[in-house]
Amino acid sequence: MRTDDGPTIKLEDYRPTDFVLHSVAMTIRLFEGSAEIDTQLVLERREGVGADTPLVLDGDELTLSGVTLDGAALAADAYTASPERLEISALPAAGRFTLAIGTRIVPEENTKLMGLYRSNGVWCTQCEAEGFRRITYFLDRPDVLAPYKVRIEADKAAAPILLSNGNPAEHGELPDDRHFAVWDDPFNKPSYLFAVVAGDLDSIHEEFTTASGKPVTLGIYTEKGRVAQAGYAMDALKRSMWWDERRFGREYDLDVFNVVAISDFNMGAMENKGLNVFNHKYVLLDSDTATDADYAGVETVIAHEYFHNWTGNRITCRDWFQLCLKEGLTVYRDQEFSADERSAPVQRINSVRRLKAHQFPEDQGPLQHPVRPREYKEINNFYTATVYDKGAELVRMIATILGRDDFRKGMDLYFERHDGDAATIEDFIACFEDAAGADLTQFALWYSQAGTPSLAITEDYDAASGTLTVGLKQALEVGASGTGGAPFHIPVRFGLVGSNGEDKAFTVAHGAEVDGDVIHLTGEEETVVFENVGERPYLSVLRDFSAPVTLHHEQSLSDRLALARLDPNLFNRWRILNDLVAEALVEASRKPLAPSQPPLPPEIVDAILGSAGDESIEAAYRAQALALPSEPEIARMLAENVDPDAIHAAVEAAKRFIGERGRKLFEAIRADARPAADFSPDADSAGRRSLANVALGYLAAASGDPAPAEAQYAAARNMTDRLAALAILVHRFPAADASKAALADFYTRFEDDGLVVDKWFALQATIPDVAALDTVAGLLDHPKFTLRNPNRVRALVGTFAGGNQLAFHRADGAGYRFVAERIAELDKLNPQIAARIATTFRSWRSFEAGRRHAAKAALENLAAIPDLSNDTRDIVGRSLR
Ligand code: ARG
Ligand code: ZN
Repeated sequence: MRTDDGPTIKLEDYRPTDFVLHSVAMTIRLFEGSAEIDTQLVLERREGVGADTPLVLDGDELTLSGVTLDGAALAADAYTASPERLEISALPAAGRFTLAIGTRIVPEENTKLMGLYRSNGVWCTQCEAEGFRRITYFLDRPDVLAPYKVRIEADKAAAPILLSNGNPAEHGELPDDRHFAVWDDPFNKPSYLFAVVAGDLDSIHEEFTTASGKPVTLGIYTEKGRVAQAGYAMDALKRSMWWDERRFGREYDLDVFNVVAISDFNMGAMENKGLNVFNHKYVLLDSDTATDADYAGVETVIAHEYFHNWTGNRITCRDWFQLCLKEGLTVYRDQEFSADERSAPVQRINSVRRLKAHQFPEDQGPLQHPVRPREYKEINNFYTATVYDKGAELVRMIATILGRDDFRKGMDLYFERHDGDAATIEDFIACFEDAAGADLTQFALWYSQAGTPSLAITEDYDAASGTLTVGLKQALEVGASGTGGAPFHIPVRFGLVGSNGEDKAFTVAHGAEVDGDVIHLTGEEETVVFENVGERPYLSVLRDFSAPVTLHHEQSLSDRLALARLDPNLFNRWRILNDLVAEALVEASRKPLAPSQPPLPPEIVDAILGSAGDESIEAAYRAQALALPSEPEIARMLAENVDPDAIHAAVEAAKRFIGERGRKLFEAIRADARPAADFSPDADSAGRRSLANVALGYLAAASGDPAPAEAQYAAARNMTDRLAALAILVHRFPAADASKAALADFYTRFEDDGLVVDKWFALQATIPDVAALDTVAGLLDHPKFTLRNPNRVRALVGTFAGGNQLAFHRADGAGYRFVAERIAELDKLNPQIAARIATTFRSWRSFEAGRRHAAKAALENLAAIPDLSNDTRDIVGRSLR
């Protein structure tokens, strides 16, 4: 078995290129069945590099058709070319020279969807991280920056639209019904931000005027007939541009900003300079076909890619180890945007749920890595929850530690000092240290030390002196990545809540540093003594989840229930209830409850119902109060000998119990939720729909009656209500005629819309029953299923492996074998997607012995495949490590 081959790239090995790139000019000729790429590079030997040092350019599955130096052919012994590499010797010792390189590629055969490929007839590109080398030989690394001039030539009918980065320059006619367009990108950029799109596309355009009065033409391009679904994305784009000017002082810099929606795309979207390319899932929407969650997703991803124009493009990464420099920071920025556009506490709850669902298990298993990794075999496998979401948490902690004003000063300095640079995490941190006069040396450990630290809190109140002593203790085990042990700088946002629901004043006698409402825990163990607190306060800690830790707060149930009612920090009210429920479900999953025991402590359920019924709070928040911790989250908390059947049984019993106990409230919520005449996707309307649909789910769980869901399905006038009803029918009553009829109706209504068919696949892939495996296996033969479309694969196979606890983790191992077989098939077409699905095995060691052995065997079978891709081998190898 090979689990450890392929070269390892190391951060410590970084050194600049031997040659400096000054400019790039390309001509791309597109034909049916082939593309010709001519690239002119103006290069110069870096000072101090010896005259005999050759130039080594990266390639990937390339065919060289010609190479010249300053217009003259190169001698045969002056270069060697392979699909992966072009090495040229005998280059000028000093001064600039021009290298012209011709390559031939076949976009139609590019099933990896990296480089230049065709999606539904449209020519498009994806170059991050290392796709540009699949188009031409290049110094394909992020610290090689240059201006690009790109000429595209294609058949007029096949590709009336020709787009690339930067501003449009010339365009015109060519013989044989062909035409051309030239694009000029004056901003220095790395190759991973290169993009070309050519095809027969529809578009909408709007004007945006920046704060300093510069007009920008915004365009969104879609496949034919779908542009009517692009209006919300355009609106979100304009709001993003406006917000980035106000919040971070960032203006857009080119004359045009284009977004293209593509149906075959490996990721969510890509921030190419001036030409964002999107998975059309994150552009196309209307109320008939998209849910409120889809609207929120489009808004977030549009904002995220737009924000990259400054955090990623104007300032890029020196090397791929610094990926969090652009991704963590840009996720932080899109989270802040959503918080401002929608609701701050609800946004924070969503981000924390996501962090716990994806990043915590990654950080606590074999795929663990620091936010800034020190080594990798395949960079595409590091576009992870740790780099993105924990990366965002680290930026948030800097903001918490410095405060809003100093954080903004640090950001301003970063933009000023590093505009045009390929920067590092050290550069970024230095800006905050310099702008705020702070020392972030210990804080920087968060970037290099992997794992989720635990934070234990104790409290001791002395009534006689009115003193509260708080103990804080952090711990971190050494994990899979071999890091751990040293104490972090953990900012703990807190409040001392009085019985009137207000934060009390206090004085700090001694102990750990306290700055406003933040305790700075820097040692392994510290205490803080608060004086003059009067009557015993309720201690509210880790407000807004101020650090990505697992919290163990020794606090009485009555204090926790009081905080769940009184805490002025709405996030913490939610968090405290969510923790109480999670702890109860963990207990219930560990050993079956006695028949006399209720599935959840009634006082906890009443607290949840109290929150959900509080009409002074927004509906979206009340819906969050009712959403139980996910089954994988309970599995993660159990940590070992996990039995997903026991977890599911505990959660189901809890749902029925809540449904019964809250029946009156749920009926009232439903009665209240008369849908407005016209659909509006705004946060308030979406929140009301979500609350009503959670209520419907609980009523169905308690009553065992599919009729209300059936009625809602039939009457639904938007996808949110329709899909919520269908999910209740199909997941809770899979055998009922009503469910089968609704599922069939849904398909017939939407069979021509791939994005909705994906919902239909995903719904069936997540039926909580071991038999879902047979359903999913059968759907592989469905005419709408194909391994070639990443969205379809994710909807059926990815959702099954990542979202079906009962069937993927079947005790007989059939779920693991099925997914491993699909990974092996997919690996031949699209290794990136195959590797991504393979990460669903990451927590295999935490399961009970039978499942553990079956999962291990499935992984070993994959590892034994001789020609497995580097991508999948890396994930499988690390998972078995
Ligand atoms: N930079 C893109 C983003 O906005 C993601 C690109 C990921 N590409 C990849 N090959 N892994 O997050
Ligand atoms: Zn990004």
